[in-house]
Amino acid sequence: MGNSNFGFSERKRKGLIKEKGIVIGRKKSMNNKENSPFTPGSPVPVELFVGRAEQITEILRYVKQASSGKQENVFLTGDRGIGKSSLASFLRYLVATKQNVLGIHVFLGGISTMEEMVRHILDQLLKETKEEVWFEHISQFFGKYIKEVGLFGISVSFNPPEHDLKDLVRNFPEVLNNLLEKIKNEKAGLFIALDDINGLVEKADFANWYKSFVDEVATHYEHFPVFIMLTGLPEKRDILSIRQPSLMRIFRVVDIEKLSDEEVEGFLSTAFEKVGTKVEPEAMELMVRFSSGLPLLMHEIGDATFWADDDTVIDKDDAFAGISNAAEAVGKKYLDPKVYRGIRSERYMSILRKLGETGPISQNFKKKDVEATLTESEKKVFNNFLIKMRELGIIESDLESGRGAYRFVNAIYPVYIWMESARFKEKQKRF
Ligand SMILES: Nc1ncnc2c1ncn2[C@@H]1O[C@H](COP(=O)(O)OP(=O)(O)OP(=O)(O)O)[C@@H](O)[C@H]1O
Ligand SMILES: [Mg+2]
Repeated sequence: MGNSNFGFSERKRKGLIKEKGIVIGRKKSMNNKENSPFTPGSPVPVELFVGRAEQITEILRYVKQASSGKQENVFLTGDRGIGKSSLASFLRYLVATKQNVLGIHVFLGGISTMEEMVRHILDQLLKETKEEVWFEHISQFFGKYIKEVGLFGISVSFNPPEHDLKDLVRNFPEVLNNLLEKIKNEKAGLFIALDDINGLVEKADFANWYKSFVDEVATHYEHFPVFIMLTGLPEKRDILSIRQPSLMRIFRVVDIEKLSDEEVEGFLSTAFEKVGTKVEPEAMELMVRFSSGLPLLMHEIGDATFWADDDTVIDKDDAFAGISNAAEAVGKKYLDPKVYRGIRSERYMSILRKLGETGPISQNFKKKDVEATLTESEKKVFNNFLIKMRELGIIESDLESGRGAYRFVNAIYPVYIWMESARFKEKQKRF
């Protein structure tokens, strides 16, 4: 990022703070805009999905294998916000449209009992099939537990009593097999994505239940065209393998990481094009750079830039405004609770402010350069400060640049830290 303040020139920086009021509040767009194509925080719609070609090919192969009768299991992992749910949802769409598989994507975040899990799976299967012309032949599968909910019964839910749920948990292979029997003329198999299993994994019974499910299927059913994909954070996968070591032989682990800059650019162009907005090359370069390959950031930055623009041409100024606003939003969500409100040590806070103040801050920094700006008493806790920031997932060692080199985990955190330092200074000046 060279030695211009984050790519913001001094003029730009002052301009942003003073003229547009970006540091203090969001730039308000005066125009009447249609809705933003960006979806920070929820899985991306199919038409804006980018990348993951390798993982898609691999997983589709397993789904095919499953459809031929051999039950398959995948554990999809990756860091928070990297795009697990989006990939699961895109895969569900692909298998449903291209492989004639009945696909469901079930969100299990916050669920911690097996009964609730099974109820959610069956509930989703019900919702997915309700509109099919062949729903008639499977409606008896759900028995009398279909409950019409919502106004005028426009929506249905699956709500059996607790003791029946216990049976459904115990006999889950048979339950799925009965359903497969009923839909075998319509569908080649089942695709079940169990998303956010983070809470369930903590329970020993989930690991044991899954293991028995797979064993029973293997020993009792010759043809069981069911593909199951769990998604969770990498550390949850480790917990699962400790709880039930043989489970990890069952799962094929698929990992997703950052997107490439080309993929981010592809995404931003399509999204802006969708709303008839042109992006100038310099602006594109900035948005791509600050997205740091992270899907969550490209949505935050794209969204903020979309709202900052008022003439359907994104120029450099719009991009700067968008990046600052995105940094503000991301910082408030991720850095405020953990860092600005979480760290009690006054010395840590003053080191952090210096990190945000000293000359040209970039995503990378050298320990000794920061150290040179510290007081004696700050120097004493500097090592611990770095450890703490690493533990909080704010910085990481920059191995390529050698010992004592660090970097922020993305390019947007330092922007917020820089803005916070500027705000702090302003406040001090006033008093
Ligand atoms: N392949 C992609 N193409 C375009 N946008 C994506 C892609 N993957 C993820 N996103 C976007 O990135 C953000 C995070 O994605 P998502 O919610 O899928 O991540 P996640 O890994 O499931 O996160 P969590 O760990 O919080 O569950 C969302 O705004 C989503 O729209
Ligand atoms: Mg998710």
